[in-house]
Amino acid sequence: MNTLLPQLSHLKPEILHEKYVLVRAGINVPLANGKVTDSFRIKKALQTIRFLKKAGARVIIIAHIGRDSKESLLPVARYMNTKTRIGFAPDVFGEATESMIDNMKNGTALMLENLRQYEEEKGNNIAFAKKIAGYADIYVNDAFSVSHRAHASIVSIPKYLPSYIGLSFEEEYAELERMCHPKKPFVLVLGGAKMKTKLPLLKAYVRKGDTVCVGGAIANTLLRARGYEIGKSVADEPKGLGALAKSKHILLPKDVVVKTKEGIQVVRGVHDIQKTDTIFDIGPDTISSWEEVLRKAKSVVVNGPLGWYEKGYTKGTKDILKIIAQGSARSVVGGGDTVALVRSAKMTQDITFLSTAGGAMLDYLADGSLPGIEAIRSEKYAYSMNHARPKEK
Ligand code: 3PG
Repeated sequence: MNTLLPQLSHLKPEILHEKYVLVRAGINVPLANGKVTDSFRIKKALQTIRFLKKAGARVIIIAHIGRDSKESLLPVARYMNTKTRIGFAPDVFGEATESMIDNMKNGTALMLENLRQYEEEKGNNIAFAKKIAGYADIYVNDAFSVSHRAHASIVSIPKYLPSYIGLSFEEEYAELERMCHPKKPFVLVLGGAKMKTKLPLLKAYVRKGDTVCVGGAIANTLLRARGYEIGKSVADEPKGLGALAKSKHILLPKDVVVKTKEGIQVVRGVHDIQKTDTIFDIGPDTISSWEEVLRKAKSVVVNGPLGWYEKGYTKGTKDILKIIAQGSARSVVGGGDTVALVRSAKMTQDITFLSTAGGAMLDYLADGSLPGIEAIRSEKYAYSMNHARPKEK
C-alpha cells in the first residue's frame, strides 16, 4: 500500500464507545419507483455501520443520492433499516435533526437527508463542512466511490475532525493500490461511453506498455480515429487523441454486432461497417482474440460495458467476464453496470474483487490517489491509533 492511512479497523472499540461518529457512506444506489434495485453498495456500507454500532458508537450517516438536488435518501434508509436499525432525519440541519442527534443512544445509527440537497456540498463550502463536523467526534470516509469528488463531505469535513477510512474504503484502497503496481502481464479491459473520462487511464496504461482491450462507445471513437467508417454508432469526436489512437497497445474490436437495415448482424471485419450501420457490441472473433491475451494475463482490471448496455447488448461483456472468471489472473471489476453483470451472471466468487467505484476507480488508477485520500492523509491532527482526538469547533 502506498502510505498507510488512518484506518477505523485499527481503533479499539472502547475508543469508539459513546462517540458520535460521522460516516460518509457511498450509497448512491439505483432506485425505481422509490425502491432500491441494486444493493451492492449498501451491503458494503453496512460493514462499517455494524462495526461502529457494535462498538457502542452513535453513528451519523451522511451521503448523497443521484444528481437531482430534490432526490431523497429515504428509500435507501428504509432499505438499510431492514438490515440493521437506522433512523432518518429528513434534513441535514435544523432543530428536528439536532434534537434527533442529541437524543441518540450508544450503538444506534441515524441517516441524514441527501447532502446534495444543499449546493454547498458540491461547492465544497467550508462553513457547511464545519457545521456538519460539529455533530461528531470522529469522521470516517467509507465512500471510496465518491472520493474523486472534491466535495465538502469528502475533503473539508476531515479538516475539523480526527479522520479515518472505513472498512469498505480500506478494501478498495488495498485492491486498487495493488493494481497500480500489478503483476505482469497486466490487461485493462475498458468500455463505456465517455472518452473524456477514460482518456487519462488509457494514456497511463499505454505509457506503461500494458495491453488495453477497448469496447463500447469509446472503441467507436478510436475506430473513427483510425479511419474506419462507424456509421450511426455512438461516438465522441476523436479530438486530441494524437498518436494514442494508433497505439499497438490498444486492442480494438476486430468484428462487431451491428444493427443494419436488415436487422442485427455480425460484421466480420470492421472495415465492412456501412454508413447506415450502428455498432451494438463486440463480435465473436474479438472475444476469441482477446481471450488469448487474457489467458496469459496475471492481473486484469475491467471497467465499463463493451456493448450498448442500456439496450441490452451485454453478451460481449459477459463472455469476456466469463473468460476472466475462469482464468487465474487477479481480477478487479468496477463500474455499476459491469459489476451488475458479474453479479447477475453469478460470477462474484470467481472475480478477485468487485469495486463499488466507477469514476473514482478510473481516477485512482490513472493518478495513484484521490482528493478524498489526500484529505485523510493530510488532515492536521496528530494521528494516533489508540486515541481519538478532541474535536475543534
Ligand atoms: C457515485 O456515487 O457513483 C459517484 O459519486 C459518482 O456520482 P457523481 O458522478 O454524481 O458524483
